[in-house]
Amino acid sequence: MAIIAFPREFVWGAATAAYQIEGGYDEDGRGLSIWDTFSHTPGKVYDGDTGDVACDSYHRYEEDVKLMQQLGIHAYRFSISWPRIYPNGDGELNDKGLDYYRRLVDCLLDHGITPFCTLYHWDLPQALQDKGGWNNRETIDAYVQYAETVFRAFDGKILHYMTFNEPWCASILSNYIGEHAPGNRDLQLALDIGHHILVAHGKTVQRFRALGISGQIGYAPNVHWMEPYSRRPEDVEAARRRRASMNEWFLEPVFKGSYPSFMIDWYAKMGAQVNILPGDMETIQQPIDFLGINYYTGNVVRYHEYGGDFQAEDVDMGYDRTHIGWPIYPDGLYQVLTWIHEQYDAIPIYMTENGACDNTEIGSDGKVHDELRIGYLKSHLASVNRAMHSGVPVKGYLTWSLMDNFEWAHGYSMRFGIIHVDYRTLKRTPKESYYWYQKLIRKGYLEM
Ligand code: FCB
Repeated sequence: MAIIAFPREFVWGAATAAYQIEGGYDEDGRGLSIWDTFSHTPGKVYDGDTGDVACDSYHRYEEDVKLMQQLGIHAYRFSISWPRIYPNGDGELNDKGLDYYRRLVDCLLDHGITPFCTLYHWDLPQALQDKGGWNNRETIDAYVQYAETVFRAFDGKILHYMTFNEPWCASILSNYIGEHAPGNRDLQLALDIGHHILVAHGKTVQRFRALGISGQIGYAPNVHWMEPYSRRPEDVEAARRRRASMNEWFLEPVFKGSYPSFMIDWYAKMGAQVNILPGDMETIQQPIDFLGINYYTGNVVRYHEYGGDFQAEDVDMGYDRTHIGWPIYPDGLYQVLTWIHEQYDAIPIYMTENGACDNTEIGSDGKVHDELRIGYLKSHLASVNRAMHSGVPVKGYLTWSLMDNFEWAHGYSMRFGIIHVDYRTLKRTPKESYYWYQKLIRKGYLEM
């Protein structure tokens, strides 16, 4: 048996996002977001599921915070629903919406839990989408105004902010692949949107500094690891393109003030370009205090002439998969963390998401034996630890997710929580992984 120990000051946590857990979609003056529209459009979300009720955390947050305290986590990552605060995206402020987060944050602090706040986890106000959404540069200004309102309201209480969750999903997955709201399928549009989101990120960091807000600010891109199938140059290049479309494309602008040139060339061959206005790259390249990393999976990739946009195909290596079908690839997490560290600054990292879809239901003994999830968490935490021993400054780990929730286009069919939610009764039942995590946090080491 090997013992894998984490430093005493390591931050253990769990994460969620507003639309996935809150419900209360029309309460206290909340406006609609693109996810309300999308989930209510037939055929977009599995089984017609919506976030109207979700886990009802809008009303049950106190119970949820108690479960967090019992779990022993130090930090809780949640997101703020922009249309709760500004029902029309900009213009009139809805103080009642802000009040919900005041209550939540106070409750967290009262229970000794540090709030980690994501400002944008995909729920763009529909009113802004109606005016072009992220394709319209006015949305950038509206976003910065919304962020400023939050900064001012929580100054001294929230000390960790993430501007954007997963810019790749908010741009490419949502506007080119079309799987997420608003469901467009246009590469040019997706690249423009991705760029505007990065500009909004940079401007928000500038505003945070200008206002002298206490605390730290970063963002939370999703990364994956694409390992070349062989050392043949074609395979290496194909894997690099796939990796860069997600990793470098959303990291390099922030850390180096440029987009990867080989990807600019590749997109040009696909008939698309990134439209950069003077000053944009300087705006994007703001020093940030920490980098949030969301990691779930990776693949082994080789060149294939007809391998889609990037002439790359995934090779099924027979790795086990989680119930959502993603290969379980813990070594990819070690690879990607050390790679980020070598490519970019020696920036402090928080794992802002990592976890597994394990749909195990409540058994006849009343327990949820989610062994797959426990195995996944163990192996990925061991990879984080390896990276730390290699010099990568990982400061904390926030598992996705605190509880089962609305898994976007998969609706309620895919469960990522360490707490089970019965969507009929809204009853919460801690799973075996919850108790396993509780023990890990208490002990501070893994037994492998
Ligand atoms: C990430 C999202 C998160 C959740 C997990 C499974 O891409 O940020 O909201 O859906 O995947």
